Amino acid sequence: MFSSYIAMPAWAQQVVASAASPGNVLSVEVQIDPMGKLAYDVKRKGKEVIGLSRLGFNLANAPKLDGNFKLVNKGVSDHDDTWEQPWGERRYVRNHYRELRVEVAQDTAEQSKRLKRGLTVVFRIYDDGVGFRYEFPAQPDGRDVAISDELTEFAVAQPATAWWIPAGELPGLEELVQKAPLKEIGTANSPLTVRLEDGTHIAFHEAALVDYASMWIRKVEGQKLRAQLAPSTTGPSVVRKGSFTTPWRTMRIADDAAGLYMSDLELNLNEPNKLGDVSWVKPSKFVGVWWGMHLQQTTWNAGPKHGATTANTERYIDFAARNGFRGVLVEGWNKGWESDWGHGGADFSFTQAYPDFDLPALSTYAQQKGVRLIGHHETGGNVAAYEKQMDAAYKLYAQLGVDSVKSGYVHEAGTMQFPSAGGGIHYGNYDSQEGVRHFVKAVTEAARYKIAVDTHEPVKDTGLRRTYPNWLSREGARGVEYNAWGNPVNPVDHEVKLVFTRMLSGPMDYTPGVLSLVGADNKVFNSTQAKQLANFVVIYSPIVMAADIPENYAKYPAAFKFIRDVPTDWADTRVLNGAVGEYVTIARKDRKSDDWYLGAVTDGQARTVPLPLAFLEQGKQYVAEIYRDGDAADYRNAHRFDLVIEKKTVTAGDTLQVRLAPGGGLAIRFSPQK
Ligand code: NOJ
Repeated sequence: MFSSYIAMPAWAQQVVASAASPGNVLSVEVQIDPMGKLAYDVKRKGKEVIGLSRLGFNLANAPKLDGNFKLVNKGVSDHDDTWEQPWGERRYVRNHYRELRVEVAQDTAEQSKRLKRGLTVVFRIYDDGVGFRYEFPAQPDGRDVAISDELTEFAVAQPATAWWIPAGELPGLEELVQKAPLKEIGTANSPLTVRLEDGTHIAFHEAALVDYASMWIRKVEGQKLRAQLAPSTTGPSVVRKGSFTTPWRTMRIADDAAGLYMSDLELNLNEPNKLGDVSWVKPSKFVGVWWGMHLQQTTWNAGPKHGATTANTERYIDFAARNGFRGVLVEGWNKGWESDWGHGGADFSFTQAYPDFDLPALSTYAQQKGVRLIGHHETGGNVAAYEKQMDAAYKLYAQLGVDSVKSGYVHEAGTMQFPSAGGGIHYGNYDSQEGVRHFVKAVTEAARYKIAVDTHEPVKDTGLRRTYPNWLSREGARGVEYNAWGNPVNPVDHEVKLVFTRMLSGPMDYTPGVLSLVGADNKVFNSTQAKQLANFVVIYSPIVMAADIPENYAKYPAAFKFIRDVPTDWADTRVLNGAVGEYVTIARKDRKSDDWYLGAVTDGQARTVPLPLAFLEQGKQYVAEIYRDGDAADYRNAHRFDLVIEKKTVTAGDTLQVRLAPGGGLAIRFSPQK
């Protein structure tokens, strides 16, 4: 059929606009074919990395916005500024791009003429990636824009390998990352990381996901991918009134995996901080009444093994105070855990504590010791029930000085419970437009009470922490809890996959630092003890839980010192090396001192990767406190505990050669010599 976009010969395309990144690394061309279909491509250093890929929409209440387009206007502008993060992987972020605006309007059908239907596609072209979004004008007849399909494509120009997780399956993105030829993947969640035949790495994702359905990425044919919007159960995927912009569709593009991680593309594409002074948001480490529950030593619900008792929480507060942790997480403090909460959540009270948990007294006790309780709101995915109590729940915490809350949305795919217009509830997807609205609402409402949020089973991170810096962290992947009860537990290459996939989206509450290396029923971690320490540097989060129970930390005081020392807020971050799914080394500079920290982790393979220390300040001597795998260390046997701790004096001119054991890691603290 002539109208088939795919079949259109290249000569028929007309380039209507183009622009290159500030350093001429990436360039974008926008084309319109004789059928008026709109498409773009991306070149890196002159070589195509994204072939001609179409742009447009199918609408549920109007003819499709795909084809019959004519160029109305175009423009190019430059932007270069540097902004400061209240907390993050680096303090200052440069936002340097060239913007290309392409305004098109439809030009055939009578109805379209009357409606003057059009779109503007805005590209921001950086040296390390491209983002684009659609701007919808208000519809002249005032009608909603009801989007049934987004037709955005990403035609990867070479055979590629993908690291992906399926979309629409487990809420909260908790599948194992799979490696496959790109042409063999199914419908993926993002970030979706691919390595092209020539070594170029691309990570597809989105930025500023607000009041819109999450973008899944479906393999259409060959190397061609297409946006697929998370479905709504009540109508089209997206319904919007008035003028609006879609989230940004993003592609980080780099020579190697390290380059992907170093990009700030999605943060840059988000709106600046809307909360003003956020000095009340405190990056910090915490411990909690938590791992014992996952080990089944204690329970969330009341009873003989209740974990969140006043006495047990006091014990954790004392432990936190002694060891410099700011927070103590208490799960199972509130009424409602007796029911099958993962399939309902309607019984949870977010204001009533179990009788054996004295919330006001514990909060006072904690603050006297310089510690804060971290609140917990497990909703069981029952948004309807939670939203009814949310305000009272935040108010209670704010009154008691509980300034951060971990929220949870455990439920099965497609069964999040949303409030219906006429009362009652309906079920839907957690990453649908209404799910997205709820997650943002939970964070912005918390901000009104100066409460920071750490969302578990969250919608994916799209850089909204820039706009709402109280969205401190989230889970959004398989955390360490899977090593307690997972079947299978997290594989040995889990972290080295996460760093270059999930972690490109933002912080993760990974709950590292289980030095005992054992879960429930004697399940064993695929990790050496050194790797547990390295994870504090490698897996970024401004709030980090040292997950193990105090009794276990008492067994390993020397290793525990690193956990006590390591900060969670950074002035700078450098990825020294890495390969997706194989290994990675990251160095980060403490925000509050001149210390640097380094973490390196490997998959099941032992390796020695040269570590040039050029990130240290020239001319200074540093004491390096090195926590490395012992010579016999191996995640597959009892030698997983072999940890060597040694000190060396080093300078920026040195290159360290340290062997990582199979399943191993390396953690180093560098302090300027006094
Ligand atoms: C799953 C969360 O990831 C975990 O951290 C929490 O303990 C349980 N849900 C209960 O809320």
